[in-house]
Amino acid sequence: MRAVTVRPPEPDSLALSDLPEPEPTDGELLVDGLAVGVCGTDREIISGAYGRAPEGHRRLVLGHESLGRVRQAPPGSGFAAGDLVVGVVRRPDPEPCGACAHGEFDMCRNDGYTERGIKERDGYAAEVWTVEPGYAVPLDPGLERVGVLMEPASVVAKAWEQVERVGARAWFAPRRVLVTGAGPIGLLAALLGAQRGLDVHVLDRVTGGPKPGLVADLGATYHTDELDKVTSALQPDIVIEATGVGRLVLDAMAGTAPYGVICLTGVSPSGRHLTVDAGCLNRELVLENNVVVGSVNANLRHYRQAAEALAGADAAWLERLITRRVPLDRFAEAYAPAPEDIKVVLTLGE
Ligand code: BGC
Repeated sequence: MRAVTVRPPEPDSLALSDLPEPEPTDGELLVDGLAVGVCGTDREIISGAYGRAPEGHRRLVLGHESLGRVRQAPPGSGFAAGDLVVGVVRRPDPEPCGACAHGEFDMCRNDGYTERGIKERDGYAAEVWTVEPGYAVPLDPGLERVGVLMEPASVVAKAWEQVERVGARAWFAPRRVLVTGAGPIGLLAALLGAQRGLDVHVLDRVTGGPKPGLVADLGATYHTDELDKVTSALQPDIVIEATGVGRLVLDAMAGTAPYGVICLTGVSPSGRHLTVDAGCLNRELVLENNVVVGSVNANLRHYRQAAEALAGADAAWLERLITRRVPLDRFAEAYAPAPEDIKVVLTLGE
């Protein structure tokens, strides 16, 4: 079978490799890969800046945004041949920390977790893969065209849960959310905000392409002004930051209404320096009871929340997030960004 592989931390080692088909062990499902989504993390791994091969191996199968169809499921697994399925990214540390021991491996405290397609576990960018039934999430058959959005949606579901849990430390009745960045995470965050009945605003720098229309079709407002201008006009109760751009992160932290929650979901490169009035930022956070919360990954509860959010969304709107579908034999094109991309998907089968 064919799989997209890299040799981290070697830069630019992306290849299509012929590997033996995996054999399911210990009650695992055998799955025919349908598609994987491509994200910034994949590009970071390809550049050599991130990612680790499984212990004792040089090669890592890429791909953490999965979608597949069960080929073979052991009796009692809760799955049957033909089911649409998404594999969870993270696995807890074999000697679990407190969070992992409670099923909250997305909050792992000792860095001992592993992640499929990212950290010490082969990923899902393969024509065939296996997965433990406990880390497989069933998907409504109607979501076949967009089910590959499940993993980014799970990351967003977790971010929203964090915001709501932080907010609920006292009376909390948010009305307005500002999302910075109209990539897949930003747009899915806007979708979940709209599903909550909030007044949703999205800021991005592009004025053309599909983003403004996607935002408008959620009943949300699209902005391209400077962030500090937008926040002072809007005074959002919540900011979900989905760019990881240092200046925007800082402006987002200073930009909410009093008792605001700022959730950071973007990963920035290190080594870029900005001048900050730390006293002013501290004063603002303290005097306004604001909270800045970082959020990464997702546990099984968030995958279930994501499945509900996707099932409740307009499938045609979700499909517009997928701006390119690239067949496996042209795999390299999927990992090369193009100007109007939102989500690029590598198709593996069917
Ligand atoms: C993935 C997360 C993962 C994170 C860090 C993101 O791209 O969506 O599941 O935890 O990268 O490795």
